[in-house]
Amino acid sequence: MQITASTKIAALIGHPVGHSLSPVMHNHLYEKLDLDMAYLAFDVPPDQVVAAVDGLRALGCIGFNVTIPHKEAVYSLLDHIDENARVIGAVNTVKIDSGVLSGYNTDGPGFIQSLKNMGYSIKGKKTVIIGAGGSARAIGVYAAKEDPESILILNRTHEKAEVLAGLINEFKGRQLAGAVHEIPGDADIIINTTKLGMWPDINGNPLEGHKLDSRTVVCDIVYNPRQTAMLKYAQAQGCKTCGGLSMLICQGLRAVEIWLGYSLPGDSWQIMNEAANVL
Ligand SMILES: NC(=O)c1ccc[n+]([C@@H]2O[C@H](COP(=O)([O-])OP(=O)(O)OC[C@H]3O[C@@H](n4cnc5c(N)ncnc54)[C@H](OP(=O)(O)O)[C@@H]3O)[C@@H](O)[C@H]2O)c1
Repeated sequence: MQITASTKIAALIGHPVGHSLSPVMHNHLYEKLDLDMAYLAFDVPPDQVVAAVDGLRALGCIGFNVTIPHKEAVYSLLDHIDENARVIGAVNTVKIDSGVLSGYNTDGPGFIQSLKNMGYSIKGKKTVIIGAGGSARAIGVYAAKEDPESILILNRTHEKAEVLAGLINEFKGRQLAGAVHEIPGDADIIINTTKLGMWPDINGNPLEGHKLDSRTVVCDIVYNPRQTAMLKYAQAQGCKTCGGLSMLICQGLRAVEIWLGYSLPGDSWQIMNEAANVL
């Protein structure tokens, strides 16, 4: 990759960011697609978020991704917020165009695309989301757009599952989602959006002890480790599975498309995946 005086900068801001796979995945893609761009990660302490965002704007960056714990802080600094991101209440991607900041959430489309890449669809399916945090909201809203049979939400804090179900129902204008206390035996798709199973607590498995139907597709959005305890458990019961790395790649590609304003070539997923798998 040759950095020139016209190279556009894309960035990640978070705290911490040292563990992020995004710089390697993005820069590999930019190089392979011959995009005159570079992607840098910045560890921004909470009291410097406003200064950092002003700096990215002043430097003419093309855009940036936002990760924990700055999603709320950045949301309040934006000039425009995409309608879906507004429903979700969080952005993870910001485009900077002539100094104007526009916020988007690529987690939902990233998850749906990762399922489609594997030949799975949510349409008409009984869909179960475990968790009711930020990523569950993003996936819940975008899953609702795919017209599933139902969306059932199971969360450690049940009240938050009820709030998310209410948000999805209001978004769809009908009773599509509900909060549940246990996973139904006839679920078509189960999606873990909690941190259970994430490094270093790699033995966490939200399905532990649950008898699965082998026709159920089981997805985990945790990508560290690639094969979580939940995915191994589901595979042992004959289920098809989808891991979180694919979603990470799809949401990253969507962010680049938002920054560039056009669609990336079809082999872009493989290019990012190639980079992620050498890490
Ligand atoms: N693959 C990707 O592209 C991608 C994108 C975004 C996020 N992620 C991953 O998704 C996970 C969640 O992120 P998030 O932003 O949604 O987090 P979040 O907003 O903090 O939500 C965390 C969720 O996990 C639940 N939870 C946490 N610890 C738990 C435990 N010990 N037992 C049961 N439930 C527990 C919380 O339940 P309570 O409500 O009861 O606290 C909440 O529902 C992270 O591992 C993150 O790395 C992956």
